Amino acid sequence: MQDIAIIGGTGLASFPGLKIIRKEVVRTPYGTPSGPITYGEYCGKSVIFLPRHGSRHTIPPHMVNYRANIWALHEKEVKRVVAVAAVGGIHKEIYPTRIVIPDQIIDYTWGRLHTFFEKDLPQVKHIDFSEPYDPELRGQLIEAAKLAKVDVYRGGVYGAMQGPRLETAAEINKIERDGCDIVGMTGMPEAALARELDLAYAHCAISVNWAAGRSKELITLEAIREATEKGMEKVRLLLGKLMDLV
Ligand code: HPA
Repeated sequence: MQDIAIIGGTGLASFPGLKIIRKEVVRTPYGTPSGPITYGEYCGKSVIFLPRHGSRHTIPPHMVNYRANIWALHEKEVKRVVAVAAVGGIHKEIYPTRIVIPDQIIDYTWGRLHTFFEKDLPQVKHIDFSEPYDPELRGQLIEAAKLAKVDVYRGGVYGAMQGPRLETAAEINKIERDGCDIVGMTGMPEAALARELDLAYAHCAISVNWAAGRSKELITLEAIREATEKGMEKVRLLLGKLMDLV
C-alpha cells in the first residue's frame, strides 16, 4: 500500500530513481491537482509522487491548487506526506545546499484558498496547529539523514511568504525578528490543509540561497539552480533511507 507521498518542489518536478508504475489524472471537488498522481517505487518502497509546481514546473507558488493536491492524496489513502521545498537560509548555519527539517511555521501568505472547512459544515471546526509538523515523521526524516550521512539542520521556523518575488532585505530582517530561520513560498497553506485531513506532514527543506540581504552576492537563478541540484542529491539519499524507516 502506498501510504506515503512525496510532494516535490523546485528541483523535484520529476524524481530521478523513482520507478514509475502508473500515473493517474485525478479531479477533486476543489479542482485539479498540479499534475497526475504518480504511483511508483523508490528504494523498494511504494510511494506516491506529486510535483507541486506541475510536471514542467510551470505553476508559481501563489497559483498552486493546494487544496486539490492535498485532497487528491487523502483520497488515495495517503497517510504521510513528505513535502520537499526549496527555501532561502536566514539563520547563519543554514548555508545553501543544507537540508533543514523545520519544527515551526509562521504564515505570511494571503489570498490563498487555505481551508477545507468553509461551508456546509455541521459546526465550525478549528484544527490544533500548535505543532504544525508531525513529530514522528520529522523524527524519521532526521534519522534517515543520519543513516544517509547527510548533514541536516534540525528544527527551525519556516516563514511562508507570498512570492513569487523574492523578499526585500528589510522583510527578511523583520521575519528574522519574528523568529524565522528559513523562508519559502509554498509551506502554507499546504501544511495546514494536510492537518485538516489528518495527514502526517513534515518538511524536508533545502536551502538554495542566502535570504535577501544575508550575502553580498546577488541572488541569481543560476546560483539557485546549482545549489538546488546539489541539495537534491542529498534529499534523494535521505529519502532512500527514509523508505527503510516508514
Ligand atoms: N525566499 C523565498 N522563497 C525561496 C527563497 C527565498 O529566498 N529561496 C527559495 N525559495
